[in-house]
Parts: sequence; C-alpha cells; structure tokens
Amino acid sequence: METRHISFDQTRIAVHLNGTGPLAILLHGYPLDHRMWLDVLGSPLAETHTLAAVDLRGHGESPWCGNNVHTMDAMADDVSAVIRTLTDDPVDIVGLSMGGYVAQALAVRHPDLVSSLALVNTRARGDTEEQRSGRMGAMQTLLTEGRRAIATTMCQNLLAPRSDDDAHGQMMRARIHTMVENLPTETILADLRGLRDRPDRTATTKAVKVPILVVVGEDDAITPPFETEAWAAEIPGARHVVIPGAGHMPPMENPAEFVRVLGEFWNEL
Ligand code: MLT
Repeated sequence: METRHISFDQTRIAVHLNGTGPLAILLHGYPLDHRMWLDVLGSPLAETHTLAAVDLRGHGESPWCGNNVHTMDAMADDVSAVIRTLTDDPVDIVGLSMGGYVAQALAVRHPDLVSSLALVNTRARGDTEEQRSGRMGAMQTLLTEGRRAIATTMCQNLLAPRSDDDAHGQMMRARIHTMVENLPTETILADLRGLRDRPDRTATTKAVKVPILVVVGEDDAITPPFETEAWAAEIPGARHVVIPGAGHMPPMENPAEFVRVLGEFWNEL
C-alpha cells in the first residue's frame, strides 16, 4: 500500500492506495479513518481498480486543519482536490455513513468527477431533532469522559450484536477503539457539529445522473434496512442490497460479501 499526502490551502489529506486500474475512492464513517477499509484494500478488487482510501480532514494521517465544524461540503471539496491530483477521469465513489454524506455532497458539487456512487449504510436526509440532541450529548460525553467512552458507545452502535461473541468481533472492537482513540478531540467535535448541521440531500441525490448502489448491513441499527430500502426505491435506477451478518460496518463485519457486491456493481457499469 502506498500513502500519499496531498496539500492545498490550509489542508493536508492522506490517501492510501492499493491496486491497479481506474481509481475508486473509499470514504470512511464517523469517527474512523482509512483503516476501516483494510479488508477491502487487500481484496481482489485491487486487481481491477486502484483503491484509494482517504483520511478525511482531521482523521487518520490527515491533520486537523483548525476548523470547528467539518461540513460535508468542505470534506467533499477536499476529496475533489484528491481526485484531481490523482486522475483526469471521473471515478467510482464508495462512502460509508458519514462518508456517504460526503459522497452525496461531492456528486452535487463536483458531478464531473463522479462516475458511480456506492452509498453504504447511509442516508440522504438530515438529522432529526432527536439525533441533533444526540450529537450534543456525544459532545458532552467526549468532554467529560474522553474518547474511550465515545469508542465504547460506537462499538455498541456500529457492530451487529452477534459479533460480540467471537474473536472476529473482539478484533473489530479493538480496531474501532484504535481509530477513535487516535483522533484529536477537536476532530470529533468538528465532525459532530458537521453531522448535526448537514443539509437534507434527498432531492439532489435523486437527481444524480450516475449509477447508484445502496448497501446496508441486515442488522444496522443506525440506518436500518427498511429505511435504506425505501430511500433506494425513490432514486431512479438505484439498486438496494442487504449484506447478511453485518450491522453498520459491512466492510469490516462481512468483507467477503461486501467486496462481492461492490465488484458486481462495478462490473456491470
Ligand atoms: C457514521 O458511521 O459515519 C455515523 O453513524 C454517521 C451518523 O451518525 O450520522
């Protein structure tokens, strides 16, 4: 795997590349980094695509750039700069949850850069009032109890319950703890503000002109399958696929099936 650091304005973005062929961008969720994609980066998809897992601003190897709010639009503009640096062609985008919000912002703001969208365990609508107050609660928890408390809650929310029992579940929890506890506190706060204030993309995503795949884990408690299925049905031409044995993190919980589904989507483009 090769890591490149791409600098522009006051921002430096790390991107982790593996494979050969047309570029495909992988965008992680909150509050994680490129390491949630490690099983995908090392998969047979790298034989047909140059897989590029981005560390969004302030995550992984991309330093926090001093902003108190990580808007989805600003993160999408960062990704556009990465794409323009790496290729002249439009690219396949895969975004999980917060990465999916960024992917939708990218498709609206930079449509010329996008050839397909895989929207994984994500949604178009903005936060409900209840979710917005949940963001405020998470900020309070972070400031009073620290990142470990956020990581523990995230593990409970992100992973399907049955993964608690086995060695794979323990390994995933360890990976999530490492990613969350490595983040600057400022990044987590800025993410939470950006998530809380993000706009509704329902209309703009419906109008996107490229092929769209909507993917969800069968046991996802954050973006449940009944919600993603109804959303996909409203997007002209979109396909909806449920990944068994997974909650909010199919690329970690069931990477074999996730890779198969993504490969099939890309093959049919
Ligand atoms: C994520 O996984 O990125 C988050 O669950 C997104 C969110 O909380 O809306």
